[in-house]
Amino acid sequence: MIFKTIIEPFRIKTVEKIRMTTPEEREGFLQAAHFNPFLLHSSEVIIDLLTDSGTSAMSSEQWAGIMRGDESYAGASSWLRMEKAVQDLTGCPYVMPTHQGRAAEHLLYSRIGGPGKYFISNTHFDTTRANIEFSGATAIDIPIAENRDPALIHPFKGNLDTRLLQEKIAELGAQNIAAVILTVTNNSGGGQPVSMANARETADICKQHGILLILDACRIAENAWFIKHREPGFEQKSYRDIARDMCALADGCVMSAKKDALVNMGGFLALRHLDLALQCRTVLIITEGYSTYGGLSGRDMEAIAIGLGEIFEPDYLHYRIKSTEYLCENLHALGIPVMRPAGGHAVYIDARKFYPSIPLDQYPGQAVVCDLYRIGGIRCCEIGSVMFGKYDANGQLIPAPMDLVRLAIPRRVYTQSHIDYVIEAFAELAKKRDKTTGYRITWEPPFLRHFTARFEEV
Ligand code: F0G
Repeated sequence: MIFKTIIEPFRIKTVEKIRMTTPEEREGFLQAAHFNPFLLHSSEVIIDLLTDSGTSAMSSEQWAGIMRGDESYAGASSWLRMEKAVQDLTGCPYVMPTHQGRAAEHLLYSRIGGPGKYFISNTHFDTTRANIEFSGATAIDIPIAENRDPALIHPFKGNLDTRLLQEKIAELGAQNIAAVILTVTNNSGGGQPVSMANARETADICKQHGILLILDACRIAENAWFIKHREPGFEQKSYRDIARDMCALADGCVMSAKKDALVNMGGFLALRHLDLALQCRTVLIITEGYSTYGGLSGRDMEAIAIGLGEIFEPDYLHYRIKSTEYLCENLHALGIPVMRPAGGHAVYIDARKFYPSIPLDQYPGQAVVCDLYRIGGIRCCEIGSVMFGKYDANGQLIPAPMDLVRLAIPRRVYTQSHIDYVIEAFAELAKKRDKTTGYRITWEPPFLRHFTARFEEV
């Protein structure tokens, strides 16, 4: 290829206005939001990198599918198309549609969890952990040691530590482990990929001990890109076949369709075993909806079926991964401490390194998030001690292993000039690094506190 510029492989047919704001306006908005960007209004945001979840731009094909959506209560043709697309990807015969990923998590983890049970993962996402803990069970993260060092280059930094897994099984007893959950890509661990070798080894260990292996597959297409380009033996395989191979290793998949199915709402639970599927289906019908629509309308299911096809298009995936890398490498070149190599859906800033003068109990990640909003109206998300911190018996913060800030990139939404603006904002922020303050929490709920907690400047 002679061109260095990787263009967005789509044309823009509909546009959505961005409201430009001044620094003074943004200071007011931030204060009104108690220094928590989750509490900002979207109209107060110029570039929204809070999440890649449900923020994708759908294709003209998906919008056409929306019109075709069959809203029948039972056996809708849109459901049959979605069911087939999910079966084709996961190889699991039993598919349950849910309104989003966490609803699928709830169906499964409320059945197999409970007091005395353990879940082990390369890293549980926050809703996954919350669903597990809400059931009374314990969630344990065992990513490989390389994952904890944001600057260390490793091709599959999202991997699970299989030696530690063996140790945990010996220590806790296989019968007490409700499931091992492999999150691909490893979102809270930097959006880093998991290799097929690691997934195979994990599956072998689970099989040996009769432990259920569940794939949190919401970014499985992005993960497949890394396998094809980094893991020997997969160069000739299609992205879809790589994803299928990985699903085939697991007893089931949980997926938030709001990521790699390119839709604004939706998810599913897919299982290989009838007994467990029947138990979960009962909860589905009680809490979500009848088994052929779950929490979704027919048009949503139609869009998911189409999105699950588009996500594996080579031009799309190449642009997707390379544009994330573009942001990551440009920030690195500016001397911003980013997690490298770039993950699939997001770029992660090491806030402890960026703001070394802010003590951990004053949340350096929250400071980066607030300052980035102030300087450029860019909204992003703390993934650190606000999200995962706990308190000890004396009420002292037990910080998360890392304090990261995530710039999540919505799929097919922003162009390279938007991303260049983000890079410029960081260049400005870096100049004012020594003039910032930490934050203190003034109010927080018992679960998932990052969504609604209120802060004040120290
Ligand atoms: N698992 C992973 C790995 C996720 O990243 C998410 C959501 C979920 C499960 C839950 O799915 O939102 O559809 O209920 N992640 C979003 C994010 C919210 O911003 O990373 P959901």
